[in-house]
Amino acid sequence: MHHHPFVIVISGKGGTGKTTLSSLLIRSLVETGEKPVLAVDADPNANLHEALGVSVSETLGSMREEAFTRKIPPGMNRHDYVRFRFRQALVEAEGFDLIAMGRPEGSGCYCFANDLLSECMTELEREYRFIVIDTEAGMEHISRGTIGKPDMLLIVSDPGARGLRTILRIQEIATQLGLEPAKIHIVFNKYKTGTAPVDIGNETPVAILPYDPEVEAADLAATPVSQIPPHSPARIVVWELAEKIRSLAKEHTSS
Ligand SMILES: Nc1ncnc2c1ncn2[C@@H]1O[C@H](COP(=O)(O)OP(=O)(O)O)[C@@H](O)[C@H]1O
Ligand SMILES: [Mg+2]
Repeated sequence: MHHHPFVIVISGKGGTGKTTLSSLLIRSLVETGEKPVLAVDADPNANLHEALGVSVSETLGSMREEAFTRKIPPGMNRHDYVRFRFRQALVEAEGFDLIAMGRPEGSGCYCFANDLLSECMTELEREYRFIVIDTEAGMEHISRGTIGKPDMLLIVSDPGARGLRTILRIQEIATQLGLEPAKIHIVFNKYKTGTAPVDIGNETPVAILPYDPEVEAADLAATPVSQIPPHSPARIVVWELAEKIRSLAKEHTSS
């Protein structure tokens, strides 16, 4: 078994394609035999499960409220009960498991709860080689410590000039969270041929996903986007990205 998973965090402004990329990446990793992958939905507008075609009955957010306010079954202490409920929240699917974080709580003190949840997360993470986290631009769960530091941060953006400001802001948050610049990469999405992607200085995007009618069709039909046909342009590009990530992860384990 692997001792240390390779953690990929997908961040970006809402609507840029984080969930689309996350689900296609998970699918590619699973298809190349890197299974099971742990899929973490850390976006409060949780819909990664839909993109992957599974259903979720409970998020860690709702579970936490319950597990800390309810009477616990006899013979169990609160600690055991939370661990039990945590395991129940994990969805096991074909080639991947999924856990949804739900909404981060308000300002009340949940320190004990959060410590316990991050303990459960750390324990869970050990069972996987790859973890893909679909998260919001602010990366709140990372700053709160409920999920660990990524080995790779992918910032998804539209290829236009307007996306640049968000890219810079997320880079800044990531740096404040202690992430090395070498681990931060930009992915352009919904690229249309004939247009030039915005200049991002001396960096080059790690991937450019084309605008893909198959992605749009899946959206309109409300079918899981991860199941678009293998020849779909966005899937091909994500497949190549998954290959890059796999070789990076190899260096990571051997170092
Ligand atoms: N490459 C693409 N081609 C066509 N439509 C896309 C592409 N990527 C994302 N979309 C569409 O853009 C919208 C937002 O994508 P989504 O992955 O949900 O973004 P986010 O998770 O960042 O909010 C969805 O309607 C999705 O179908
Ligand atoms: Mg999303």
